Amino acid sequence: MYKFYFLIITLLCFSSCINEDSKSSFLLDSENEASISSLINDMTIEEKVGQTCQITLDAILKKDSSGVLIEPHQIDKAKLDKAILEYNIGSVLNVSNHTFSLETWHSIIDDIQTIALTTKHQIPIIYGVDAIHGATYIKNSTLFPQEIGLAATWDTSHARIMGAITAYETRASGVPWNFSPVLDMGRKPIWSRFFETLGEDVYLVKTMGKSIINGYQGNGMVDKYHVAACLKHYVGYSYPSSGRDRTPALIPERTMEEYHLPPFKAAIDAGALTVMINSGEVNGIPGHANKYLLTDILKEKWGFSGFTVSDWEDFINLHKVAQTDSTLKDAIATAINAGVDMSMVPNNPEYKNYCKLFIELVKEGKVSEVRLDDAVRRILRVKHQLGLLNEVRIPIDNDYSKFGSEEHRVASYNAASESITLLKNEKDLLPLSTNNSILLIGPTANSLNCLNGAWTHTWQGVDETYNNKYPTIKDVIEERFSSVNYFEGSKMIMKDGDEADIPSSDLQNAVQTAKYSDVAIICLGELPSTERPGDIYTLDLPKEQQLIVEELSKTGIAIILVLVEGRPKIIRDIEPLSDAIVQAYLPGDQGASAIVDILCGDINPSGKLPYTYPRHNGVIMHYDHKQSELINANTWKNDFYSPQWDFGFGLSYTKFEYSNMQINNKILSTEKTLLVSVDVTNTGKMKGKEVVQLYVRDHFASISPSLRKLKRFTKIELEPSEKRTVTFTIGIEDLKFYGKENKWIVEEGKFSLMINSLSKEFNFKR
Ligand code: BGC
Repeated sequence: MYKFYFLIITLLCFSSCINEDSKSSFLLDSENEASISSLINDMTIEEKVGQTCQITLDAILKKDSSGVLIEPHQIDKAKLDKAILEYNIGSVLNVSNHTFSLETWHSIIDDIQTIALTTKHQIPIIYGVDAIHGATYIKNSTLFPQEIGLAATWDTSHARIMGAITAYETRASGVPWNFSPVLDMGRKPIWSRFFETLGEDVYLVKTMGKSIINGYQGNGMVDKYHVAACLKHYVGYSYPSSGRDRTPALIPERTMEEYHLPPFKAAIDAGALTVMINSGEVNGIPGHANKYLLTDILKEKWGFSGFTVSDWEDFINLHKVAQTDSTLKDAIATAINAGVDMSMVPNNPEYKNYCKLFIELVKEGKVSEVRLDDAVRRILRVKHQLGLLNEVRIPIDNDYSKFGSEEHRVASYNAASESITLLKNEKDLLPLSTNNSILLIGPTANSLNCLNGAWTHTWQGVDETYNNKYPTIKDVIEERFSSVNYFEGSKMIMKDGDEADIPSSDLQNAVQTAKYSDVAIICLGELPSTERPGDIYTLDLPKEQQLIVEELSKTGIAIILVLVEGRPKIIRDIEPLSDAIVQAYLPGDQGASAIVDILCGDINPSGKLPYTYPRHNGVIMHYDHKQSELINANTWKNDFYSPQWDFGFGLSYTKFEYSNMQINNKILSTEKTLLVSVDVTNTGKMKGKEVVQLYVRDHFASISPSLRKLKRFTKIELEPSEKRTVTFTIGIEDLKFYGKENKWIVEEGKFSLMINSLSKEFNFKR
């Protein structure tokens, strides 16, 4: 039986109420703010510094004499006592090495909170995890597509449902804080964490991001089925010039304002409670030292009243890696004074050193007590908002009866099936009849880990021990088709920091088998990886994988490519050899069923690319490029933009026709909005879903304009022959850009609205 207990802290027992004026929608009411202030007044510097200290679970687990963790993992009572009773730590994070059962989670949280409640102020620990595509560190949880796939659904309800289920299942373990969503822009496909993003477009990232947060946090006070969101990684982390993780980015102010900041701003407005800082540096200033971004923009301009947390070891990194501070002590002062509230130190004995040095800094006046109090106030506010200060509750099973349920599995399947994107379908090869005899080949065909990607029961997601409950593509294909011959084709290997695949000896057997098969399904892609271990040298799909397609194409067999990849790998040479191409992204535990249901036509594909699929390694352009980027020095034509596939592209088994585009006015003036409508008709034979996308073009502007920018989208479902009129409203905000004076402005002139291949012009006049 799990313990179930309440702690009433008399000072803090007033019911929570949302301050209506608060921009970030969760400043507490004045009574609760006053209660927190009086609690802070009663705390020593040591206790306050402790609240800002976050340690990893590893730091309080039992290890053998050589420092190796003892399995099964157990809390080391002496280490725990030291961390909480002597160092007053306020937060713990993650698992060490691998996932836990719900029962193990309950006992870990129980052990930790029991000690925290014996302290003078009885302030519970806030535990945080990376539950980034479902509750990634709980056995038997529901795992969804990674964010890049979620974005490809172009359906905010999937984002909200993923958020809500992840929150529910995370909370079931006793953990109330999730280090998600990633709101970094996905504009560098070579970056190892591209799959953790919602793609390249600012409006798509903003819109889907807000829905994930609504799912995580619910409305208002975060109840026992929700968690605090943590926006990552504020800001510019995803745009390293070298493409490698945690390396410097150069981001001009305009690009920062127009692309990187808006998703975070929208998420703060949606009430996000916490923010994790960029581990890299932007324009030479490390994320953790950037007072302008952390304090002036986030806290002061946007009114963020929650807390910021450092990323892994980043105080130490200011000194050791960025080398902007000559001592660790200076680095702590820099980061705290810049506006970091909590430090993910996170190891033992480093955390002890952090606490000691921070206390010294306050006593020496190098960090003011006012700043320390502000950090602690923010942390306590979030603890209050999560109900931690009123009640520490270890969940009992019945409260979370939907954990890992069929209902949750179906939600993940639905998200996966709506994310998968059909990129090519020559002569309507797909959908396939199950009478076909199948030659199944490729290194991602028989791997559940490849479908899930990193952050799946382990950090890198490669260990198969912890993830084997759901079928691989091979399992489902063998179940659905009566004749299947499977070959590996090539082996994916990560060696010396890059992919070093090797051909499998069975490729020639596969070629021999082709003449007895109707269709080859070739599953390519990449091994799970993230952060620094995921750094690679090239976007080219390894030649060993391309060889499979080349060899089989010589036999004349029809080829279906299934791409299981977190970033677009270059397939320029094998695309023409393939008859159909399906982009699966990293679809999660239900990915295999969703992929095969699409191949067989039980699901009509409706995913659309959330990024521009590059054709060449050296030309990474985005759909919202400018006229000046088009000129091709080889042809002297405006044809340089030639991606493999465009942003927003995706085929269906039915056909949609767009007609009758209308705008209700040819002139937009400051107070007014414009109504834009279009008729969409399903002219094919199958029911299907279509994403209707509205783009705006500013024809002339004092800052050279993009040729188009996404401003609205909606996903609709139409029966064969059904017609629907879709209406969008746009206003002046949609025409604004960051002008020469470094302010958001709108200029008079001609604009176009574009939906599919239709367009209408209007003028903006004040
Ligand atoms: C990652 C974060 C993550 C943190 C805790 C860091 O290395 O950059 O995204 O939340 O570890 O696991």
